[in-house]
Amino acid sequence: MTTAARQLDTTELKQRVQSMYEEVALEPEREFHFETGRPLAERLGYQPADLDRIPAAAIDSFAGVGYFLDLAVIAPGETVLDLGSGAGMDSFLAALATGPDGRVIGVDMTDAQLAKARRLSQEAGFAGAEFREGYIETPPVDDASVDCVISNGVINLSPDKPAVFAAAARALRPGGRLALADIVTEHQLPEGVTCDAALWAACIGGALQRDAYREAIEAAGFEIETWRQNSEYRFVSERADNATQKYGVTSISLLARRR
Ligand SMILES: C[S@@+](CC[C@H](N)C(=O)[O-])C[C@H]1O[C@@H](n2cnc3c(N)ncnc32)[C@H](O)[C@@H]1O
Repeated sequence: MTTAARQLDTTELKQRVQSMYEEVALEPEREFHFETGRPLAERLGYQPADLDRIPAAAIDSFAGVGYFLDLAVIAPGETVLDLGSGAGMDSFLAALATGPDGRVIGVDMTDAQLAKARRLSQEAGFAGAEFREGYIETPPVDDASVDCVISNGVINLSPDKPAVFAAAARALRPGGRLALADIVTEHQLPEGVTCDAALWAACIGGALQRDAYREAIEAAGFEIETWRQNSEYRFVSERADNATQKYGVTSISLLARRR
């Protein structure tokens, strides 16, 4: 994983990721390498009745890769941290689960996503959902202050995945949960793919081989309790689909517990 990070231009990657997800926030109807919006969310397993209770514009900009809220089992009063919260769809759903006595902190590095999530939160009166600017490698939350860390389609975009899992462990109280959906591969991706910032920003180039992904989570102090493959997720462009077929790029959802 660090080999790929050394060879990739991480400054270019950050710019590409920010510009791609700025478009997802501002023009969600455009065509991307990946699907977005409500049809995707419903196919992945989100319940229409739940989606009806949150701002529709957050769902329009949904660019996640799997459903995992059934694994997270968020309870009333809990504190949830959403790493790479985007326009806020999962954060809003989590806020419904935490209720008025809990809180959800979404963290994202892209201004347009943050602005959209904050505006929608205010308009819809989601007082328990707050969106902070920051990096998923160094989220701006106190140590051991969170019950559940969630994330959807984001960690594959980080050039330093061990730092993300370490940050999640730091934020969680002992026994806290990490519930997420992300992209992994069956076979290690070749340099031609891992050094392509465009494929990386499209959620493919940065995907770790699945055993390495599991090891990175365990090394951060987690025990993986559930690991499942999301066959409903697919990439849409031909280029992305080719890499997907060749290297076994798949979406997974997992639940891990901090030791
Ligand atoms: C694929 S989108 C997913 C957004 C949201 N979770 C969803 O399901 O719609 C990835 C999001 O992660 C953010 N992101 C990517 N890398 C990040 C990093 N290192 N730190 C903070 N945010 C990051 C992007 O700005 C973008 O909003």
